[in-house]
Amino acid sequence: MYLGIDLGTSSVKALLMDENQLIIGSASAGLEVHRPHTGWSEQNPADWVDATLKAVGQLARDHAKAVKKVRGIGLSGHMHGATLLDKDDKVIRPCILWNDTRSHLEAAELDANPLFRSLSGNIVFPGFTAPKLLWVKNNEPENFDKVAKALLPKDFLRLWLTGEMVSEPSDASGTSWLDVANRDWSEELLKASGMERSQMPDLVEGSEVSGMLRPDLAKAWGMEMGEGRGVIVAGGGGDNAASAIGMGIVEAGSAFLSLGTSGVLFAANDSYLPNPESAVHAFCHALPNCWHQMGVILSATDCLNWYSGITGMALEKLTGELGEILKPPTGTTFLPYLSGERTPHNDAAIRGGFYGLEHASGRADLTQSVLAGVGFAFRDCLEALRAAGTNIERVTAVGGGSNSIYWLKAISSIINLPIDLPADGDNGAAFGAARLGLMAAEKVDPSEICTQAETVRTLEPDADLTSKFDEAYGRFTSLYPAIKGL
Ligand code: XUL
Repeated sequence: MYLGIDLGTSSVKALLMDENQLIIGSASAGLEVHRPHTGWSEQNPADWVDATLKAVGQLARDHAKAVKKVRGIGLSGHMHGATLLDKDDKVIRPCILWNDTRSHLEAAELDANPLFRSLSGNIVFPGFTAPKLLWVKNNEPENFDKVAKALLPKDFLRLWLTGEMVSEPSDASGTSWLDVANRDWSEELLKASGMERSQMPDLVEGSEVSGMLRPDLAKAWGMEMGEGRGVIVAGGGGDNAASAIGMGIVEAGSAFLSLGTSGVLFAANDSYLPNPESAVHAFCHALPNCWHQMGVILSATDCLNWYSGITGMALEKLTGELGEILKPPTGTTFLPYLSGERTPHNDAAIRGGFYGLEHASGRADLTQSVLAGVGFAFRDCLEALRAAGTNIERVTAVGGGSNSIYWLKAISSIINLPIDLPADGDNGAAFGAARLGLMAAEKVDPSEICTQAETVRTLEPDADLTSKFDEAYGRFTSLYPAIKGL
């Protein structure tokens, strides 16, 4: 048995899988995001531990016999967060999350140093870890002086689970401190942001052993210590790389589209293909010698959640009002920049909006505009990946938003690509983490494990609507330059 633990932005999910990769069960426990100021987004690391205790505890109660046999654990987590520890491993301040844009000035300062793009292969985005540390240095010097280690969120969970301070290249790629081609920390990048190698955890590959589960936790969960040898904890992966492992997106050109809090268009590459100019992320994958590219939009299901909040209507009701047959785009364009945007704009200050409202604009029209606006942002990501040399012919959809078939139909027509819907798409990252746990515990060849998920349905672009969505996409792309800097 293998356990995957995915530290998501809105919940921790624990998933149990057997040696044939059949899912035995899963459990999750909710998390909150604190937004004390505009553009800020934080979580307390202690809440991650509580939620993990709840989720794994639930699994251990529901599937005691299976949990007893756990031999390997894999970790996945939301990326880029700065979890700062003092010399006694105590958390110094709340973790600053991936969608926090407070450090946009520091990000621009680091990004102006050409070393960052050339060694890390990426723009220094405000959501990345290095500019967060510079912000802490500039704004909370008393906290900065205490930093003995800076850990990524899932690596903090690992410290609690194993006592080891370890990370792995897929998540570390999002810090701006990793030499992504060489899969190792860069002394030069660390120095350029006032940090040192001693403040970084060690690195192992995602499918390698990072440590052993603490005996007291194994006992509390009823794990028989991996049949006497201890329960192995694998390196794991950032949530996007882990989702890709879960879906078998490891061969060059295979791709997924994730409709989670953030939106991600992810493509696997067999070599390192940076292209920061198109605001594409070029990161290490969670397997040795593999890399990937992705376009990231900061608000995907977050846009619908916001819209559901202000209309006071549940999501299913809102999308239900649209019926089942895909409607043509409305004259109203929604810009999904509720937290600023990464790909393709790298603009922390931009904000969203509706353009083109008229008396006749009803609630259903606006719902359609919100769904399409997120779809247009994915089209932007697709164009950015194409500019970075990646050709995608179809994508697999994952994430909570992929439950909406209507939304997938709209996105398929907007990006003009077929979208495959896998069985168990919601399990993505936790399942991938469990697979990495299996690989580390049994030392099996990743290609044997990372098979592609079975497709249960494919949504094809609607040939009658693609040109209309193309026109609407043209309106969408002309709005950003018009409102930038307002
Ligand atoms: C990726 C990113 C997000 C988070 C959220 O760069 O910021 O996808 O990992 O889960």
